[in-house]
Amino acid sequence: MGFGLDDAVLARYAPGMSTQLQITRPDDWHLHLRDGAMMQGILPETTRHFGRAIIMPNLVPPVVTGADARAYRDRILAARPEGCDFAPLMTLYLTEDTDPKDVRAAHTSGLVTAAKLYPAGATTNSASGVRDFDKIQPVLETMAEIGMPMCVHGEVTDSDIDIFDREAVFIDQVLDPLRQRVPDLKVVMEHITTKDGADYARSAPGKLAATITTHHLIINRNHILVGGIKPHYYCLPVAKREEHRLALVKAATSGNPAYFLGTDSAPHTDALKENACGCAGVFSATNTMACLAAVFEKEDALPQLEGFASLNGPSFYGLPPNSDKITLTKGDVVTFPEKIETGDGPVTVFDPGFPIHWHISQ
Ligand code: NCD
Ligand code: ZN
Repeated sequence: MGFGLDDAVLARYAPGMSTQLQITRPDDWHLHLRDGAMMQGILPETTRHFGRAIIMPNLVPPVVTGADARAYRDRILAARPEGCDFAPLMTLYLTEDTDPKDVRAAHTSGLVTAAKLYPAGATTNSASGVRDFDKIQPVLETMAEIGMPMCVHGEVTDSDIDIFDREAVFIDQVLDPLRQRVPDLKVVMEHITTKDGADYARSAPGKLAATITTHHLIINRNHILVGGIKPHYYCLPVAKREEHRLALVKAATSGNPAYFLGTDSAPHTDALKENACGCAGVFSATNTMACLAAVFEKEDALPQLEGFASLNGPSFYGLPPNSDKITLTKGDVVTFPEKIETGDGPVTVFDPGFPIHWHISQ
């Protein structure tokens, strides 16, 4: 399949040739760690390269209160590999009943970094999300007052809106009006997939930003559907047409601080993906940094990788960057495991569809 890396670029990967790049240790500003045996199996895939991650709260049941977040954070800390100081940055799942006082206490104590807004029914485990956005006005005002960012899954859920249009419609019909009602709220548009999302995200520096996933920089909707349905490329928001992928690549490699990495690495077992009603989610924790290096190199934008993966996120969230570094070295083709075995079953690793030549070391 035409996966983007052309012969001229591949020719630059002459065997034995090596280019090295040292960058501040990256963070993942949108990550699903799940719980229990699944978390135990996949957590090392993230902690190997990433210093911190914004942990999505869409467990069953969701992480709604400060007490839920504390208990989940403690389970994550206990599941970390020996000697690893990976820091989970916790989020609360906003519901129509979320108590602003609990949110304030959880954020001001440092327990919770952000709150996540899921329109009800938009994605995996979002049934307890928000239907009536007016109902969360008080909690959003509290968040604006204390400088707590809102991460948002930006898709409408109306059955009469085409799935490929749901992000653009959400910006017009929900997000922009909501931001006008709470102008001081800091908003992260999670996993943008369209040119519309990329354009809107840079329209209010310091107040608005967007995460971009690794897989949305690499696949478009043809990769899901042409030549047979590929369940491991199915995620939400669903990948769009090529012109949108190109807009995302341009945004991610531009150096604009409004864009940073959120892998949205979202493990589901093969049994649940390869199914008549397959779950949405791409698992990319294992090879994300190596894939990103390939994407940025293709754009001649390797110098921008550190901003995207390691600096712009902390800057938006008001946190210092990590103090240590990782090294990316270009060399022979790297082989990644096809699957990660977990106590719940195997999880397929994202296949970028072209050879990866980037080795990551500490
Ligand atoms: C995520 C999941 O599996 O939890 N799935 C996905 O396709 N991205 C949920 C989400 O972030 O939308
Ligand atoms: Zn997600």
